[in-house]
Amino acid sequence: MLPTPAVLIERSRLMANLDRMQAAASARGVRLRPHTKTHKSPRIAGWQLERGAVGICCAKLGEAEVFADAGIKDIRLPYPLNPINASRVVALLDRTRLSFIVDHPAVAKGWSMALASVGREVDVLVKVDVGFHRCGIDPSAPDAVAFVEQVASLPGLRLKGLLAHAGHGYHATSAQHLEEIAASEARTLRELAEAVRRRGIAIDEISAGATPTARFALEQPGLTEYRPGNYVYFDRTQVGLGAATMDDCALTVLATVVSKPAAGRVILDSGSKTLSSDGARGFEPLQGYGVIFRGATLTTGTPPDTDLIIERLSEEHATVRSASGSTPLEPGHHVRVLPNHACVVSNLVDRVWLMDGERVIEALPVAARGQIQ
Ligand SMILES: Cc1ncc(COP(=O)(O)O)c(C=O)c1O
Repeated sequence: MLPTPAVLIERSRLMANLDRMQAAASARGVRLRPHTKTHKSPRIAGWQLERGAVGICCAKLGEAEVFADAGIKDIRLPYPLNPINASRVVALLDRTRLSFIVDHPAVAKGWSMALASVGREVDVLVKVDVGFHRCGIDPSAPDAVAFVEQVASLPGLRLKGLLAHAGHGYHATSAQHLEEIAASEARTLRELAEAVRRRGIAIDEISAGATPTARFALEQPGLTEYRPGNYVYFDRTQVGLGAATMDDCALTVLATVVSKPAAGRVILDSGSKTLSSDGARGFEPLQGYGVIFRGATLTTGTPPDTDLIIERLSEEHATVRSASGSTPLEPGHHVRVLPNHACVVSNLVDRVWLMDGERVIEALPVAARGQIQ
């Protein structure tokens, strides 16, 4: 038995998830470029590329450096990089095909100056805000087309296209709402692309990507690329949003009951340092910090113990309450916890364990974890 808490990945579920998303994208002629934020593992990225992914995404340059070291030749950062990092970008350009987003005139000019002054060019996409209201240009602003035109004209930058992330899908209230978000995202991108093309500027790529909206977004016309991340593992939130079933979820935390202070309360050894403090999202409100499956082994079709609620986390303790007031769990028993948010969980450990049922296949280093710069 592995020492706990341990982050376990069911190999068959992971592979099925990789196959399913690749098949869905390929069937619609959309290039899949997975976001590696969820697994941060060059091995898993390799399996995605073997299946037909055209490249990968990272958020931070430090992550891109890890994947470039691992030999990955096409890396996109859908993140608003600052030109203060120009020397690292130039170094990466020698090792991989690198692209990133721009969404601000001063930043675009800064990159243009930094790259043109050393005789280099980089592929960029203009980030478009399709409703998440994080970054991206407002596509309805009077100067939206002018900004794209300006980026296209700047030396050192090669405009490839438009890019969006429908992160507001995580707040959707129904499958229909998710579908509307996906349709509106694609429509917004198509309309802006058309307006830019009418000015004689090529838009070769239209990139979108998020796991909750994936099943609807891939049906929309106009997208050339899709960048889902979470789909490799899925988690309780994706189940809550109808993007996965419990049996699709590949990542769970193996934990041990370490105390039972009352008949209706047990303590697990997986606190916020393992499960993170992220809450769950879903069409319905979801309580607690994960779903508990009793036993050390995860079997298809076995329902979680819905009597158990992880109602509080300390750094190293999970306080679990039994709604009925009594649980058969005793100190020394094992459970599997399906976390609310898999991406943050894998970022908390140096390695995850690839499993075939009860058998450990191998330890997978989470090589790009913690690369926040
Ligand atoms: C810009 C961008 N693209 C793609 C993704 C992948 O989204 P998901 O993990 O929902 O698949 C993310 C996730 O945070 C993102 O920020």
